[in-house]
Amino acid sequence: MNRGFFITLEGGEGSGKSTQIKRLSEFLQAEGYEVVATREPGGTFEAEKIRTLLVNKDGGNWTPMAEMLLFFAARAMHTETLIKPAVEAGKIVLCDRYTDSTRAYQGYGHERGLNVVNSLAEIALGGYEPDLTLILDISPGTGLARSGKALADEGKEEECRFENMELAFHERLRQGYLDIARTYPERCRVVSAEQSIENVTDRLLACIAHEIEGKDRHEPVR
Ligand code: TYD
Repeated sequence: MNRGFFITLEGGEGSGKSTQIKRLSEFLQAEGYEVVATREPGGTFEAEKIRTLLVNKDGGNWTPMAEMLLFFAARAMHTETLIKPAVEAGKIVLCDRYTDSTRAYQGYGHERGLNVVNSLAEIALGGYEPDLTLILDISPGTGLARSGKALADEGKEEECRFENMELAFHERLRQGYLDIARTYPERCRVVSAEQSIENVTDRLLACIAHEIEGKDRHEPVR
């Protein structure tokens, strides 16, 4: 049996990843592909337990290193028990976030650097990376407004400062993703999320088709 494909979707707040994963899944299934849609942090019973520690408000006040280890603990479990077996069984795995999220959020956004993220990825995953990474690019202003996380225009100095901090974080995140795309050009494609849902899906499907056809022909994907 042919090996399948491991495809990740990445992007900041309000980039529309979940909508697109759903649409891509439906389209690829209609084309006859076996698709597994999953997400991080989470994706398996154990990794979903770790997710609650990371994303729930009362999950704990983790130090940066402990938090990163939890992301990688969840990812190691998810990779070994779900992603790799599905890809080896010939399926297309569509994953909402993977190691590039740790690079972008912890490495760039929270400025903890890429060395530690890359070292942990090597230790926890043996350097396992997606075949294709689709990065949904959106300006932080538009993304935050879409995700409903933009602060109301209130005019109080403290709240303005907070909003600026938020925007600076999201701008680092965006630049981080663009840097990641430049660092791993063989697997990363950047698609603008500032177009209609249908157009974004079309662009993503074109990238996926290119990847699948390229691999079928045993040629390197460009
Ligand atoms: P989630 O509710 O799934 O957000 P989204 O819809 O934006 O994907 O929560 C995941 C949050 O965790 C999100 O803010 C990104 C963050 N995150 C990291 O900081 N590092 C990581 O390695 C991963 C996988 C997620």
